[in-house]
Amino acid sequence: MRLNSPKMNLMYKACMKASRSLIRDFGEIEKLQVSSKGPADFVTAADRRTEKIIIEELLKAHPDFGVLSEEIGQINEANKNNRWIIDPIDGTINFLHGIPHFAISIAYEEKEEILCGLIFDPIKDEIFFAEKGSGAFFNNSRIRVSKKNKLKDSVLVTGGPKFGSLKKNKIFEEYVKVSKLTNAAVRKFGSAALAMSYVAAGRFDGYWEWELNYWDIAAGIVILKEAGGYVDLKKPKKNVNVVATNSKIHEELNSVLSID
Ligand code: IPD
Ligand code: CA
Repeated sequence: MRLNSPKMNLMYKACMKASRSLIRDFGEIEKLQVSSKGPADFVTAADRRTEKIIIEELLKAHPDFGVLSEEIGQINEANKNNRWIIDPIDGTINFLHGIPHFAISIAYEEKEEILCGLIFDPIKDEIFFAEKGSGAFFNNSRIRVSKKNKLKDSVLVTGGPKFGSLKKNKIFEEYVKVSKLTNAAVRKFGSAALAMSYVAAGRFDGYWEWELNYWDIAAGIVILKEAGGYVDLKKPKKNVNVVATNSKIHEELNSVLSID
């Protein structure tokens, strides 16, 4: 594992510590599925516990750094220069249903640029990480995006719409349109962080999604860029719209999508 810088090391340690209880929690889910109450409250608790462990570890080393995290929101908001961006469980619906496809995502941002990112799928024991200028890695190996240059030969991934989405119908229409017009195979796996990682590793050729939160994709941005991909954030801050590809199919995918 090549985790050269102190920041990457810190992110890795925090992630591994948090993942131990998350794996145990996932093991409990199956039993809770059949209980009358269902596992929803349990999952919220697992989410919060994971987040707490990660934040504690990261802030122990840098108490003054900012934090943006899905459950807790912002800490040290005034620090815009150094900030951790955390999604404790990306793929919560999968987790809730006992589907082993979710990830912990941690990014480090400096002056609004993501410099390090780490995405860990604890059940498959797969880690994707990158640091600006040092390449992207999957477990112990360097990764590169795929070489596909036509949508008709590509496998794409998308996600959403979210509950309560204002553009729900448009998002469904777009999904159908891409499938119909391009002949690409389109998948929907339920984790934006893993979708970005899989494009970086060449498993998928491209990904698009509307109305994301920044923490869903922050770590994925640097991982995909360092693997040779192209990340297009149409609305960078709120309700982020993203088109992220191996670069080669980017123009063709953009020409089919009508993301604004
Ligand atoms: C969600 C997942 C999902 C995407 C949603 C996200 P969460 O994050 O990334 O794939 O379609 O838009 O909100 O809620 O599981 O952390
Ligand atoms: Ca998420």
